[in-house]
Amino acid sequence: MAPRDTFQRPLDNLRLSVTDRCNLRCSYCMPEESYTWLSRRDLLDFEEIERLVGVFTAVGVTRVRLTGGEPLLRRDVDRLVALLARNEALRDIAMTTNGLLLGECAGALARAGLHRVTISLDTLRRDRFRELTRRDDLARVLDGIEAARAAGFEGTKIDAVVIRGTNEDELADLLAYGREVGAEVRFIEYMDVGGATRWSASDVVPRAEILERIAAVYGAAEPLREESSAPADRYRLSDGTVFGVIASTTEPFCAACDRSRLTADGMWYLCLYAKLGIDLRGPLRTGESTEELLARIERTWSGRADRGAEERLARVLRAPLAERAELERDPHLEMHTRGG
Ligand code: GTP
Ligand code: 5AD
Ligand code: SF4
Repeated sequence: MAPRDTFQRPLDNLRLSVTDRCNLRCSYCMPEESYTWLSRRDLLDFEEIERLVGVFTAVGVTRVRLTGGEPLLRRDVDRLVALLARNEALRDIAMTTNGLLLGECAGALARAGLHRVTISLDTLRRDRFRELTRRDDLARVLDGIEAARAAGFEGTKIDAVVIRGTNEDELADLLAYGREVGAEVRFIEYMDVGGATRWSASDVVPRAEILERIAAVYGAAEPLREESSAPADRYRLSDGTVFGVIASTTEPFCAACDRSRLTADGMWYLCLYAKLGIDLRGPLRTGESTEELLARIERTWSGRADRGAEERLARVLRAPLAERAELERDPHLEMHTRGG
């Protein structure tokens, strides 16, 4: 039985950030010119990750998602997928990627046993993509999405962060594109998290406006009634197209949050907004037994009281979570380190 935290939330969804590096520089995540990177020596190797995931599944985790940074920058990440695919307790092994390297990797990932991919894509316009990500690589992302389909992936999703003045006029186009490539599009409210040092409340396009903009082109979308701990609320258009909205900023889902995240260097965070993590690399490398690790994880989860996004919402004056100097001192605060 999975332990419950202080709000009776079970431990389930584990996000594994396998590298803090990224090959894009999205303005909502990595706006700076330079970054403090995790030290290579501290990175968990694949066998260490497999062992820790084994402990987590023994405590109740059934779903993992590989993230980064950009997870496909971690060399031979398909080998990690294959190791995780041996763990029978995992009913879902997914990956969140920016898609740049999917063209080369999709086949190997599918063969290794990855179940699903989610690709981040915020715009379909080349000039905008270049401006938003500081790389002229839109075509490669689109090729990557095609490659995922050709490799046989089902349940592919496209995640678009909606930012005022950047892409809020593209929602209908993104939906049409998703339908064309057989992927479910999800619109994400811009969050004041990690390295989003340029965040301001006025840049957030709230769920209601996202729905209005879509309704103006396709007619009103019908909400689907679903019980789940997933962050996305789903809707259906009259032509049957289903899409999601992740309203983490204006309507947080902390009450049902069963997720935690492990960084590439083995720090465990109980909340996207948590300032402090729990070091699991130390105990792992000093030879702590599986039973001890298990007890450590259970004990920690039982004391969890995090509801970061709800606490942020309660603030009257809302500014980015962390200052630049703080992010430089502790890169674990970055979204690209703890897993977007
Ligand atoms: P599935 O439902 O398994 O497909 O995955 P998911 O919904 O967790 O999707 P994904 O990992 O692609 O996350 C989508 C977006 O949800 C992220 O990019 C974040 O913007 C937001 N998100 C993910 N995890 C958290 C979280 O722990 N807290 C909050 N507040 N938002 C999150
Ligand atoms: N707000 C919302 N989503 C973010 N992501 C990263 N930073 C932010 C932010 N400030 C998420 C996006 C992207 C994924 C990799 O991380 O969903 O698709
Ligand atoms: Fe979970 Fe924290 Fe995100 Fe709330 S803010 S949904 S508690 S990770």
